[in-house]
Amino acid sequence: MAAYPRKTEATGLLGWVDERFPVVQTWKDHMSEYYAPKNFNVWYYFGVLAMLVLVIQIVSGIFLTMHYKPDTGMAFASVEYIMRDVPGGWFIRYMHSTGASAFFIVVYFHMFRGIMYGSYKGKRELVWLIGMVIYLALMAEAFMGYLLPWGQMSFWGAQVIINLFNTIPFIGEGLSLFIRGDFVISDPTLNRLFAFHVAAVPMILVALVFVHIVALHTVGSNNPDGVEIKALKNEKGIPLDGIPFHPYYTVHDIPAIVVFLMAFFAVIFFAPEMGGYFLEFANFEPANPLKTPVHIAPVWYFTPFYTVLRAVTLSPFMGTLAMFGAIIMLFLLPWLDRNPVKSWRYRNTAHMLNLAIFAAVFIILGYLGVKAVTPEYKEMGVRMTEIYFLFFAVILAHSSTNRGRYLVWFVVLAGSLIAIDFWRYNPDDLVSAAQIKWQWVWPIGYLAVTLLLPFFVKGCNAEKTVPERVTS
Ligand code: HEM
Repeated sequence: MAAYPRKTEATGLLGWVDERFPVVQTWKDHMSEYYAPKNFNVWYYFGVLAMLVLVIQIVSGIFLTMHYKPDTGMAFASVEYIMRDVPGGWFIRYMHSTGASAFFIVVYFHMFRGIMYGSYKGKRELVWLIGMVIYLALMAEAFMGYLLPWGQMSFWGAQVIINLFNTIPFIGEGLSLFIRGDFVISDPTLNRLFAFHVAAVPMILVALVFVHIVALHTVGSNNPDGVEIKALKNEKGIPLDGIPFHPYYTVHDIPAIVVFLMAFFAVIFFAPEMGGYFLEFANFEPANPLKTPVHIAPVWYFTPFYTVLRAVTLSPFMGTLAMFGAIIMLFLLPWLDRNPVKSWRYRNTAHMLNLAIFAAVFIILGYLGVKAVTPEYKEMGVRMTEIYFLFFAVILAHSSTNRGRYLVWFVVLAGSLIAIDFWRYNPDDLVSAAQIKWQWVWPIGYLAVTLLLPFFVKGCNAEKTVPERVTS
């Protein structure tokens, strides 16, 4: 049982508070005596930057809410009013809209860092899972925020996304009706999405980030070498390769914050629409339920998943399933990547190539999602979707460096692809058949690089010895 009254070394006001609430101990546990690996590199800036953007979004959002009207008759005009008449309103609005894109840029880098260094391993599965729930909450937050200006893209984008729920067998129609609060997207929809966007989801996000950090500090940070620094401690119990988070990393993070803010404000001042990627041009027109835009595309950060949705044409439900499946697969990473070596620095070349290709494929999927569908792009979307899902199978295959296993995996995966192609092939549809005929090189080439290469070339399957101590 805790001693009463609480003992504290602090004096004055701090002492008074510390007797009643463990401020000093909390500061020590999470800042001045939280020993972080001394070899953090630039990839470790993105966690703190994500926190910074969260604060920017909440603060700018509060000011926007002071002038915004969640009413279908007034929403669009209230945003125009903010832009033109509210003093500094344009600045606050661009901060919020640029912040949404910045959030995803930062979080995508943050997630990729986790994959590169195997940061979901070594009892860090929960840190990863909480991160993934944050990612989902962030997507929901961005989607709901996008409806609020009530522009053409707000309306039609929401139409597409909410209609996805319609495709779920049995419960779909009831569910989308429940989400909209009406038979069509209208005032009740705007009101409820507004409530979720400004109150419910931000609170959930803040709570999740808190839990994310507590979980991380319980197990300790990973690092670019993937070495567990807690395994080697001095006589005082301090990790030999650890340095106190404060002041070392608090100061170390300042230049990153400054550089980030310079880029952030440069976008706000010089390219807030970012060529239609951060703010889509069609959204400068008020929502018109009678006029469908020629080309509907979600904002860039959703487009990789939008391409997956469009690639699976078997049935609308299967498309929806594939799209959500693409996100679910990321949740499973800690259990798919069973290789005991964490960092890609010490994994074989095939694994490094696998991660690099995955990043490239994610970007290509994103690019395809903003483009109108042509037969070439459609087939490319299918092929990139195949590689996206194959990545997870290859990660599982790379769990061990047994070369025989690679060959078996290659035969099984390539065989499945060929079977799917035979089934998809329709000689009557000459354009699509021609595309299928040549674009198969992408997934088969991917499997050849990640599975056949380490099978045939021994050097590509060589893992390096993980050092006992961090390297720099
Ligand atoms: C609002 C969004 C997020 C915030 C504010 C946030 C914040 C942080 C912070 C401050 C750290 C410690 C510093 C660092 O390692 O960079 C961290 C670590 C981590 N985060 Fe996040 N995070 C967010 C989203 C995510 C997402 C979406 C994922 C992945 C699904 C994720 C996975 C991780 C992992 C695995 C670590 C441990 C990294 C390591 O020790 O190597 N986080 N996060």
